[in-house]
Amino acid sequence: GNKNINAKLVLLGDVGAGKSSLVLRFVKGQFIEFQESTIGAAFFSQTLAVNDATVKFEIWDTAGQERYHSLAPMYYRGAAAAIIVYDITNQASFERAKKWVQELQAQGNPNMVMALAGNKADLLDAKKVEAEASTLVLLLEAQAYAQEHGLFFMETSAKTAANVNEVFYEIAKRLPRV
Ligand code: GTP
Ligand code: MG
Repeated sequence: GNKNINAKLVLLGDVGAGKSSLVLRFVKGQFIEFQESTIGAAFFSQTLAVNDATVKFEIWDTAGQERYHSLAPMYYRGAAAAIIVYDITNQASFERAKKWVQELQAQGNPNMVMALAGNKADLLDAKKVEAEASTLVLLLEAQAYAQEHGLFFMETSAKTAANVNEVFYEIAKRLPRV
């Protein structure tokens, strides 16, 4: 029969990586060009039907600014899932994402379903070949990193909506069916 699953989900990642934008896209189908930096954290919920289950995501959109780092455990503690977000055009944001993965693997729920989202995929422009080479290298690195650390990787765009619902869908499919 049908199962109802409540799943706490946390988004973590560098300032400006696009955490709030991904949530806004997923929950409200909107995108804001000048999204304000999150203060503390913000809460949202959204329900998804997947196969035999209805998953209600309770979403904590955390603030990427370093001064809020100490709050993060409140949001990832007990979380069933995490989306670690980086900006595909920003190497430093990928380095920050790796730190989050380390922290979650050390302190988080060991059964947590984790996704690595390479966001702002719309910024990959085939016409600017040279500028994009480093971005492509970073994408390959992110894919390899995700595979090595047991996350699944997706390129997303909150702007175009590419792969946004899919990330949440993949997570929903991977949640343990109690
Ligand atoms: P903090 O709350 O400061 O941690 O940042 P955040 O990770 O929530 O980033 P936010 O969603 O606020 O996005 C930062 C900026 O990037 C905003 O101006 C967004 O419009 C822009 N942005 C977010 N996602 C995308 C995307 O997929 N493509 C493009 N081109 N811009 C994006
Ligand atoms: Mg934000």
